[in-house]
Amino acid sequence: MAKRTIVAMPGDGIGKTVLPEAIRVLEAAGFEADYVEGDIGWEFWCKEGNPLPERTIKLLEEHKVGLFGAITSKPKEEAFNELSPELKEKGLVYSSPIVGLRQHFNLDICMRPCHTYKGNPLNFIRRGKGDSIEEPEVDVVIFRQNTEGLYGGVEWSNPDDKVYDALMTHPKFVKNFGSVPRNELSVSTRIFTKKATERILRAAFAHAAKYGYKSVTLCEKPNVIHETSGMMYKMAKEIQQEYSDIALWNTNIDAQMMWLTKNPEDYGVIVAGNMFGDIVSDGFAGLIGGLGFACSANMGDEVAVFEPTHGSAPKYADYDVSIVNPIAMIESACMMLDHIGENDKASKIRKAIAEVVAEGKVRTYDMMKMSGRPDVVEKGAASTQQMADAIIEKLK
Ligand code: NAI
Ligand code: MG
Repeated sequence: MAKRTIVAMPGDGIGKTVLPEAIRVLEAAGFEADYVEGDIGWEFWCKEGNPLPERTIKLLEEHKVGLFGAITSKPKEEAFNELSPELKEKGLVYSSPIVGLRQHFNLDICMRPCHTYKGNPLNFIRRGKGDSIEEPEVDVVIFRQNTEGLYGGVEWSNPDDKVYDALMTHPKFVKNFGSVPRNELSVSTRIFTKKATERILRAAFAHAAKYGYKSVTLCEKPNVIHETSGMMYKMAKEIQQEYSDIALWNTNIDAQMMWLTKNPEDYGVIVAGNMFGDIVSDGFAGLIGGLGFACSANMGDEVAVFEPTHGSAPKYADYDVSIVNPIAMIESACMMLDHIGENDKASKIRKAIAEVVAEGKVRTYDMMKMSGRPDVVEKGAASTQQMADAIIEKLK
């Protein structure tokens, strides 16, 4: 088989640390590929006025599969101030390159699995009968719509005449906001399309069927947000008709955030719009070890990009010895292997991670409930590289 080419986009901060470690693990598992580096992130915003250069888009168009570390985003004014002086007059506005990638390639299906590794001291526990402690096994996959909804970017402050007049056609706007001065109004829309809603729902049901999950839980709020959540619930009920073995549960996002700390083992596949999917996936990630463990895939019809859920953690970026946990990035690389049909290698790596976690000899600072400081390694925490080494050792 021809060698694959993977577009490696380390980005900023700890993205630059964890991505090379994941590639080392992929190589140790026998995955042979060529890696081409895709420029993305803050450096390219400052130097070129574009954090997502066209050449990176071209690389992804050609090779279809990307591994992404993390990027740094900053508020509008800070972003402007850091622009190289000759670019300051050009009217450039910073926008997140990972959001840009998702939109450019219509990577509308975001998948975020959260599963328990036995022996992880960060696992969720609860009191059982008498003095017993229960550690329920979480095995949940969140499907988050990745391109629309509240993150769709259709928003205004001090809306112009056309927008304001359109809003004034809605009786509730007139009643609740009609007397508010226009320059005191900010509006962010929550737009759902049938096409994208159907795609995320179908992806969720197909995954549940393929991997034997008993339920798909729609996590929205259709009783209050009638149009968007309501449409999604109606469509979910229709699609469920095609899957007689899979139950459709309907929970409200707020209640779900409570229930997931009560009976997380009862959930299988979760599906939600963009923002609620973002929230509920962080909630479940917290039950299995948090940001050091949370991985994700952004998938479109043609292109897919795999990334840890965490950001660039700038305060840890310049440590002489890196202390962050590479497992989220390595797990994201496993999702990439699954995506391209290298499931055996993905399983091998997950098994190696499971062994390292179960043994408990090598733990990064986050797994030891320490706060992140340069001296954690002296105090017995593993460095980023030592964690990757331990996983590689198990692959031998
Ligand atoms: P963050 O995820 O970078 O860091 C939050 C905290 O989580 C860190 O201080 C650290 O304590 C912990 N953490 C993160 N990754 C870890 C790891 N692998 N191992 C151990 N601990 C880890 O989020 P924050 O601080 O809100 O944002 C920092 C920058 O990252 C911002 O510029 C933000 O815009 C960006 N960001 C980028 C994302 C992306 O590239 N997809 C996602 C989230 C934030
Ligand atoms: Mg998030």
